[in-house]
Amino acid sequence: MTDLEQQLHAIRAEAETAIAGAADLPALEQLKGRYLGQLGGLMANLGKLPKEQKPIIGKLANEVKNALTAAVAGKRDELEAKAEQSGPAIDTTLPGRHHEIGHQHPLTQIFERTVDIFRRMGFAVEDGPEIEDEWHCFDALNTPANHPARDIQDTLYVDVPPHEKYGRYLLRTHTSPVQIRTMLRQKPPIRIIAPGRVFRRDNPDATHSPTFHQIEGLYVDKNVTVADLKGTVEFFFKQLLDPETKVRFRPHFFPYTEPSFEIDLSTPTFRARGKEWIEIAGCGMVDPNVFKAVGYPDDEYTGWAFGFGIERLAMIQYGITDIRLFTENDVRFLGQF
Ligand code: DAH
Repeated sequence: MTDLEQQLHAIRAEAETAIAGAADLPALEQLKGRYLGQLGGLMANLGKLPKEQKPIIGKLANEVKNALTAAVAGKRDELEAKAEQSGPAIDTTLPGRHHEIGHQHPLTQIFERTVDIFRRMGFAVEDGPEIEDEWHCFDALNTPANHPARDIQDTLYVDVPPHEKYGRYLLRTHTSPVQIRTMLRQKPPIRIIAPGRVFRRDNPDATHSPTFHQIEGLYVDKNVTVADLKGTVEFFFKQLLDPETKVRFRPHFFPYTEPSFEIDLSTPTFRARGKEWIEIAGCGMVDPNVFKAVGYPDDEYTGWAFGFGIERLAMIQYGITDIRLFTENDVRFLGQF
């Protein structure tokens, strides 16, 4: 036996043992590469052999190559069968990973639905600054300098030099100054709502917060009446809360409306909790002094206005007993809406 024949037999023996012991598919591929590579290396010298040996060695090399290829294929089948038995790498019977879909804050939901309802009645949305001045927040709204709302106890004043015409700067205590800013900017007919944040000098507790939200409404045109006011307010609350909502107007006083009313609501939800009427908003016919402040001609227009607090409405509608929950960002609370 020639040297080369011995080497071919040795490669075959070594390769067959190694292939039989391959632990997994990557290891098997590696062995295949190694031994076929060695075989190829030996065969590169085939041309240098004496003529009579060439066919004998060539035939043997072919046999070894076929034997190795067959051994690798057999082992591959075996390893694949084993992998399948131990199950797929992914357990398709596990429940999928669940992603919670968020939603809007309950107060934002009330804002958006309110805007939606009033848009359908032809109202536009107006905005005003949160840092206001005394004139827009009080004087123009017919609220005299000695009115208790202007007191340092109720209003948060901003510690900057006052405006020479409009007086001290303050954090607006209500959204009503947006009425003034709108009327100064445009002529009737005016149909607007103004949702926004307001501020009062209150210590936080279950029912008080130094900042909360209101929605203001204003409608000014020729021949606007209390009937328009009542019809609009009633339609709005029925749409927002429940078609079975009842609305009651009670005489009241606000400096910027005459006559003025407080709006009481009765909904099936309140009635189920044993409460018949709950006071929710203020409203009235725009006081002539307010029209005068914005420079509208005497007796040409009439109008109505209303304003109410969003937190309070949400609290009575959903039975929430602590106003602080709205700003604590506890998902166990927020997730309920
Ligand atoms: N501004 C009042 C408040 O903050 C609410 C209000 C009452 C607004 C009567 C109005 C109104 O527009 O006409 O309590």
